[in-house]
Amino acid sequence: MKFNQSNIKKAKKYLDKDYCIGVPTETVYGLAANAYSSYAVQKIYRLKKRPKSNPLIVHYSNINDLKKDCLINNNFLKLYKKFSPGPITYILNLTKNSKISKIVTNKENNLAVRFPSHKVLKKLLNMLDYPIAAPSANVSTRLSPVQTSDIKEDFGNKIKYVLEGGKCNVGLESTIIDLRNKPKILRLGGLEVSKIEKVLDKKIIISTNLKKKTIPGQSRVHYSPGIPLRMNVINPNKNEAYILLKKKKKKNNNPNYFYLSKKNDLAEAAKNLYSLLRKIKNKGYEAIAVEKIKNSGIGQTINDRLIRASKF
Ligand code: TXA
Ligand code: MG
Repeated sequence: MKFNQSNIKKAKKYLDKDYCIGVPTETVYGLAANAYSSYAVQKIYRLKKRPKSNPLIVHYSNINDLKKDCLINNNFLKLYKKFSPGPITYILNLTKNSKISKIVTNKENNLAVRFPSHKVLKKLLNMLDYPIAAPSANVSTRLSPVQTSDIKEDFGNKIKYVLEGGKCNVGLESTIIDLRNKPKILRLGGLEVSKIEKVLDKKIIISTNLKKKTIPGQSRVHYSPGIPLRMNVINPNKNEAYILLKKKKKKNNNPNYFYLSKKNDLAEAAKNLYSLLRKIKNKGYEAIAVEKIKNSGIGQTINDRLIRASKF
């Protein structure tokens, strides 16, 4: 993906004027606004039809800017050094003088923060004198967008501008870790938990309980493709699109069969998951069946999203 400097300037112009715009990140596209401006941020909630009780992730370009708004600690520094910029979001306490809009945090005194690695977004963040709040750029409960055409599908012309950044490399949302006390994973995501455990040198609690609603991102009806989905399927029904990790027999030309990866690669599967689910829905299928996906590494996040999608 090449830079287009004039597009980045255009994006800055809209953000400076308190508009809400689409921006690329390495995980999924975000719906971004100035995190210091309540006027700008409330537009995100309106557009997404997002409950006000559901706080937003704020995106920073560097740690010095973060320190103005958040209190950092040792665990944060260890993880930051190893994984940021990248697909990990940290929950930290706010500083007394933080300028973050109260609407972003739902008046709580903690904040979800992330340092995105997408080159285009990094360029943009470097030009701004405020961080940006950005949830995934989809209507609440639907699939997150991984390319600009997905945003158009959800919002039509309701969004002022979408900054082009190509297809997202990770394809699944960031991993969220609460670092205020004992580290706790609140959402599985693009960074594998085992890698985080290695850096912190301990087992980490995973608290993404599907039954107990701790944070809104953990609600069951998230990430829905809009049609029923079944998991661990060996024999799909005739009306179902069947998703497999990769082609097993070279000669299988069944038009109902779809593949997540060319090789046998879970990272490639993660990258393709949301766009494939959208494609199948748009082809007019009534239902989706997915074969059993290995539950290790990023496969854990893929299964997490499929479980939520299957509760539709
Ligand atoms: O990869 C990502 O994280 C993408 C890109 C755009 O950065 N963003 C994203 O945002 O997935 P969103 O809003 O779709 O999901 C963020 C989740 C929500 O479930 C929200 O409830 C939770 O993070 N969250 C935000 N602030 C929080 C906080 N202070 N404490 C606990 N959970 C929080
Ligand atoms: Mg989301």
